[in-house]
Amino acid sequence: MKRTKIKSLLNKKAIGQEVCVKGWVRTRRGSKNVSFISLNDGSTINNIQIVAEVDQFKDEVLKRITTGSAISVIGILVDSKGSGQSVELLAAGIDILGDADPDEYPLQPKKHSLEFLREKAHLRFRTNTFSAVFRLRHALTFAVHKFFNDKGFVNIHTPIITGADAEGAGEMFQVTNLNLVDTPKIDGKVDYTQDFFSIKTNLTVSGQLEAELGALSLGHVYTFGPTFRAENSNTSRHLSEFWMIEPEVAFADLEENMDLAEEFLKYCIQYCITNCEDDLRFLDSRLADEEKTLKKEERSEMSLLERLQFVIENDFERLTYKEAVDILRNSKPNKKKKFNYIIEGFGSDLQSEHERYLVEKKFKKPVIITDFPKGIKAFYMKQNEDGETVRAMDILFPLIGEIVGGSQREEDLNKLSKRMEEMEICKEELWWYLETRKFGTCIHSGFGLGFERLIMFVTGMKNIRDVIPFPRTPQNADF
Ligand code: 4AD
Ligand code: MG
Repeated sequence: MKRTKIKSLLNKKAIGQEVCVKGWVRTRRGSKNVSFISLNDGSTINNIQIVAEVDQFKDEVLKRITTGSAISVIGILVDSKGSGQSVELLAAGIDILGDADPDEYPLQPKKHSLEFLREKAHLRFRTNTFSAVFRLRHALTFAVHKFFNDKGFVNIHTPIITGADAEGAGEMFQVTNLNLVDTPKIDGKVDYTQDFFSIKTNLTVSGQLEAELGALSLGHVYTFGPTFRAENSNTSRHLSEFWMIEPEVAFADLEENMDLAEEFLKYCIQYCITNCEDDLRFLDSRLADEEKTLKKEERSEMSLLERLQFVIENDFERLTYKEAVDILRNSKPNKKKKFNYIIEGFGSDLQSEHERYLVEKKFKKPVIITDFPKGIKAFYMKQNEDGETVRAMDILFPLIGEIVGGSQREEDLNKLSKRMEEMEICKEELWWYLETRKFGTCIHSGFGLGFERLIMFVTGMKNIRDVIPFPRTPQNADF
């Protein structure tokens, strides 16, 4: 008999019919006469309750129905008499598909810490929290593609292995198949002509430079791929391998870039509210429970669902870096030296404590900061007339900090070349990038959204390691 997913059984259309379900046992409880089995198959956060009359099944079958085991059940779907569920399945036949020895199975029907579950990443999918998070991750992936597809963007697959290490977005992981014990050398230096690609190669930190090439023909493009950064940042917001969405649009200036980013973020969040109601409601109450353990002043003012709604309904605050620095310089924590990094004035990079002050204390909503000093931004950003700032934008989100980084790109060949020289970026290596400014150049803009940071915001998870199935961080590449 074909199996029906629990999600579709719970909508009650099959009441009175014989159905087959397959899934993993969450709990089994009951009395001398009847066993209640709570079963989940991953199609929804909700379990189906299976009612098994004890005298209809062999004792050795019932004994093997333990938390974590996989079973198949055939029975009649009925309206539930008990409270807490709408339907239940009266079991006529139960097959044990896979045992889970209760003495060894690490997940018990109780709350486990997220740290514990990180060490059990192979099994954490089977918890309510992680199944909800990963269904939402999927929904967001789909929303990203739908948003851009509906707007006529072309998805570009940019390379993961790259010979260009000049984007300047961060430290890179080298890709090589040279013998590391007896490395070929010329004059003491590694001879990369003998390496696999005959040049030194790395894992990409961003698909932007290649996306720009696509945009300057296809008009609207976006990439959605893995990116790699070898920085030793062990924080709750950094991964060594993360996914980034990078749209790039020809003929668009920074204003249009900001509008696109704001519309895009709101669309993705609305998509989850519309399509993932059960999972979001679960995560909302999970977060509320977690916050109860915090001191009052550390709790968020809004629940998860309120926060999502709030972001959709309000315009993001837009201000320049200069304005942001003035606000920060005159802020209480700066004057009282409460920040770890004191803002002295123009030129200082904003740390996450400053970003969070602006978003959570000052404006209480997402903030877009534009026109950063050129010294703290990448070479490709469009230079402003003032000679000091570039047409960059960072979007800062409550509890997350920077979620998007982008800019209008420098389309003037001379200005771009000069800036590359100043920043000691190898022009020969990026000859192809420069040629787009030589042939049919035009203004264009784009941004990068850190996918895991968006998932953190939507799910309320506070550690980025809990929104990617198998996180890669310094000293950790398990699974
Ligand atoms: O600000 P970033 O470094 O920008 C770029 O890479 C540009 N090439 C994007 C573009 O204009 N096309 O990174 C973009 C975003 C950040 O805002 C952040 O959300 C995320 O990527 N991000 C990380 N997420 C997780 N772990 C890390 N180590 C991250 N580094 C950046
Ligand atoms: Mg950035």
